[in-house]
Amino acid sequence: MEKEIDWKNLSFGYMPTDYNVRCTYRDGKWGEIEVSQSPYVEMHIAATGLHYGQEIFEGLKAFRGKDGKVRVFRLDENAKRLRESAKGLLMEPVPEELFKEMVLKVVKLNERFVPPYGTGASLYIRPVEFGISAQVGVKPAKEYTFIIFVTPVGPYFKTGFNPSNICIMRQYDRVAPQGTGRWKVGGNYAASLEAGEKAHELGYSAVLYLDPKEKKYLDECGPANFFMIKDGKYTTPASDSILPSITNKSFQQLARDMGIEVDARHITVDELEDAVEAAACGTAAVASPVGEIDDLDTGKKYVIAKDGKPGPITTALYNELRGIQYGDIEDRHGWITFVE
Ligand code: PLP
Ligand code: COI
Repeated sequence: MEKEIDWKNLSFGYMPTDYNVRCTYRDGKWGEIEVSQSPYVEMHIAATGLHYGQEIFEGLKAFRGKDGKVRVFRLDENAKRLRESAKGLLMEPVPEELFKEMVLKVVKLNERFVPPYGTGASLYIRPVEFGISAQVGVKPAKEYTFIIFVTPVGPYFKTGFNPSNICIMRQYDRVAPQGTGRWKVGGNYAASLEAGEKAHELGYSAVLYLDPKEKKYLDECGPANFFMIKDGKYTTPASDSILPSITNKSFQQLARDMGIEVDARHITVDELEDAVEAAACGTAAVASPVGEIDDLDTGKKYVIAKDGKPGPITTALYNELRGIQYGDIEDRHGWITFVE
């Protein structure tokens, strides 16, 4: 008898599930979808994915509603973004239809791991693609493997929907100015590890990166985008060096639906002074409210959540998004795909 899963106390971590799905691009075409029970891959020791970082991934979630049905959130957007990442690294883009078929298949196969409604947990879906051709010269591979696995998860930040503090450290960059920041490339995360660990050691939940060229504008927040409420507007950085977050895009739509103006533009660091709410946003982070932002270079502390609580707009946006994801609020924008 397997140990029962404590759905309400899940953290954001890996837990084995029953199956993963795989597909390989070889001889100029994608092959059949394979279903695997093994959590391992066998690959060539000279694969470009290992040596030259031809590796990209995605992250999306499935939710169980009160009606018991399983809903995948904004599947098409993740399919499109994976294609953009592939083009950025000269990898073979996964056809959107193949992506969708594989996501729905892997969720269905692992349906018993989709957390029950009311637990606040969800099934995290992790597609990953990498070059598998043996190559020693620095060249794109001709062959690629695409795999999707799933794992049930709880909140990404330990504080959940309670504010946590983040910091600015100018000595670290996660991406270059005209680099790979707009794609979901594994190397970006490797480049962020040192700063992330340092921030955690200092008691911060994440690093708020500045633009890598001038260090003047806000970029994004470790593994999430950043937004703040300033002058009553949903204000979020527009930058070529950040990942176009699907959660952020969704919040912008929900803000407009609520009659809140959206201001996506370069934001200077000192504008944090006027922020009355702020949050990190992403699939894993959902909306993680920010309490205080400490600029470790200047010593300046921007206290955002003055009463230590999430602000009203962040809370409303969070509830609206979660409501749509779990099926409690009408899917008025067509963001949900049911797993039949
Ligand atoms: N920025 C980075 C660097 C991320 O890793 C993520 C996570 O996917 C996001 C932003 C948020 O993007 P999304 O809302 O599409 O999950
Ligand atoms: C996500 O939010 O899906 C992410 O990929 C963030 C992180 C776990 C890398």
